[in-house]
Amino acid sequence: MPDTHRPLIAGNWKMNTLQADGVALATDLAELYQATSEPIFEMLLAPPFPLIAKVGEAIAGSGLSLGGQDCHRLSKGAHTGDVSAVLLADLGCRYAIVGHSERRANHGETDADVMAKAAAAHKAGIGAIICVGETQEEHEDDKSIDVVKAQIAGSVPDGATAANTVIAYEPVWAIGSGRTPSPASVQDMHDFIRGELAARLDGETADDIRILYGGSMTPNNAVEFLRLPDVDGGLIGGASLTAEDFWAVAQCYPLAT
Ligand code: PGA
Repeated sequence: MPDTHRPLIAGNWKMNTLQADGVALATDLAELYQATSEPIFEMLLAPPFPLIAKVGEAIAGSGLSLGGQDCHRLSKGAHTGDVSAVLLADLGCRYAIVGHSERRANHGETDADVMAKAAAAHKAGIGAIICVGETQEEHEDDKSIDVVKAQIAGSVPDGATAANTVIAYEPVWAIGSGRTPSPASVQDMHDFIRGELAARLDGETADDIRILYGGSMTPNNAVEFLRLPDVDGGLIGGASLTAEDFWAVAQCYPLAT
């Protein structure tokens, strides 16, 4: 189960890496993490599905966490190409990312789908990292708050706790673009999300649920985001693909506090 007391630095490898470079990346990060006495952040690697077992072996005993980039809402059955949260748990995953904007856009996933996937992760005993965030067009139309409000209402299942749920706020226009929102607007959105969680769940749970920022986070800008009071870590794509960059992002957390 997730460790809720530490910020989470999560690497979403997406459809990148082959066996050798994926295992090498994981091995390098495991060494760095193990060499750190009492790391103040939890670090998660979310490789492509076929590499989960190998990456799991590479990081065994290091304290690094393992996760999937998606899961199916059911635990087994005739669902060609899908992967259950139960299998992720069996492979040693602590998390499944659900509702990433690339899944929502490329696979037509709705809030109801995302909620069902998060509930499946909970049932399997792993944490759901539920992604929300507005598109470029919604951002330009000043609809960001409304969009995120609806996504939180529609994607967070009943029974969400700080132990089984992490929220990732990822403005779609910031993902992979090199563009980022201002730190002030990220803080405002995270504060808003926490308020929505408090109304939906309860205040104490909302205070404890980690809310990550994601979207073009790099070693150059991570401090600005990780120092914000309602930012409890990051979901990192491009900069998680080299040990040097990903470790440098994580090192910004101590600098930020
Ligand atoms: P990025 O991706 O860091 O490459 O912008 C973040 C994400 O999509 O999770």
